[in-house]
Amino acid sequence: MKILMLGANGFIGGHLCDAIMAKTDWQINAMDLSHDKLQVYLNDPRFRFKIGDITEEKEWIRTQVEMCDVILPLVAIATPALYVQDPLRVFELDFEANLTIIRLCVHYNKRIIFPSTSEVYGMCPDNEFDEEESYLVTGPINKERWIYSTSKQLLDRLIYVYGKHKGLAYTLFRPFNWYGPRLDNVFNPKPGGSRVLTQFIGNILRGENINLVNGGLQQRCFTYIDDGIDALMRMIENKNNCASSRIFNIGNPLENISIRQLAETLLQHIIQYFPRYALQAKQVQLVDVDASSYYGDGYQDVTLRVPMILRAKEYLGWAPQVDMNVGLRKTLDFYLSS
Ligand code: UGA
Repeated sequence: MKILMLGANGFIGGHLCDAIMAKTDWQINAMDLSHDKLQVYLNDPRFRFKIGDITEEKEWIRTQVEMCDVILPLVAIATPALYVQDPLRVFELDFEANLTIIRLCVHYNKRIIFPSTSEVYGMCPDNEFDEEESYLVTGPINKERWIYSTSKQLLDRLIYVYGKHKGLAYTLFRPFNWYGPRLDNVFNPKPGGSRVLTQFIGNILRGENINLVNGGLQQRCFTYIDDGIDALMRMIENKNNCASSRIFNIGNPLENISIRQLAETLLQHIIQYFPRYALQAKQVQLVDVDASSYYGDGYQDVTLRVPMILRAKEYLGWAPQVDMNVGLRKTLDFYLSS
């Protein structure tokens, strides 16, 4: 099988390349702006890499879609602070650039595995989000945060319609707060410049206090990257068409914790297992901050976000295996042990 992976050097792409190269004989043709996570594969005949920007390398992408069997367009801005700070870039990259790729898949009749997001459910009041039943609830236009959610939502709708009316072969997957080694750069000093876990690790490393937006009572289901990759491998393999024309929530409903609990657990882990940073961690304070002063007026939050994963269990035979203690420990080993 020949896979075209755009954004192969990202968090999901890098881990997916590791799994494909280790466990299969599949060929990967990949593009990204850089290749620091992929160095070991650059001379492997099963891995072809091109440095490039998907908004510019249109002809290369066209020929690759034509040549490959499965297309994984993983390029997207996925940090909430940027949805508010640079919504136009989010629209241009996440929506417009990916739309071109989706249309190429339709044109060349290629299977697409597309990253939707838990964000599409927005402020849905359901206790568990159901891929086929839950309403997708976003806020007013003056809340730019929703540009990411609605861009992804419209692409989900389009892919579904292309599938139903034009025969596009597709699978949509919705990651719920995937985390693990190589998530974001913890040395990025911009507040809100990365996702919450890496933001907090960076705060601790820099000896800063941790900001709990609106008190940190909002909850997330943190899902370890290996579990996410396991689900993706099953979608790519697509045994007996188990993933065809389906949408899958890929998240860990058992690890539903508040952001305050996340901060507390993280500090406890560091104090207990990483003595080099224990003193620093003991001095960190948890400080409540107002969402609009932290992110700006265009922000609105999600208070509860729990995936229903019955479909992933039934069709993919998948269930998350890694609990938060193990996943956090592995993540901290990566960031703090070097
Ligand atoms: C994320 C991002 O939109 C995407 O990465 C992705 O599509 C999706 O969730 C997902 O992975 O499921 P969110 O969970 O809101 O959205 O993003 P985080 O930046 O990880 O923030 C989680 C929570 O922590 C938010 O409520 C945020 O306000 C809070 N937070 C963040 C703090 O309390 N303090 C901080 O310093 C940073």
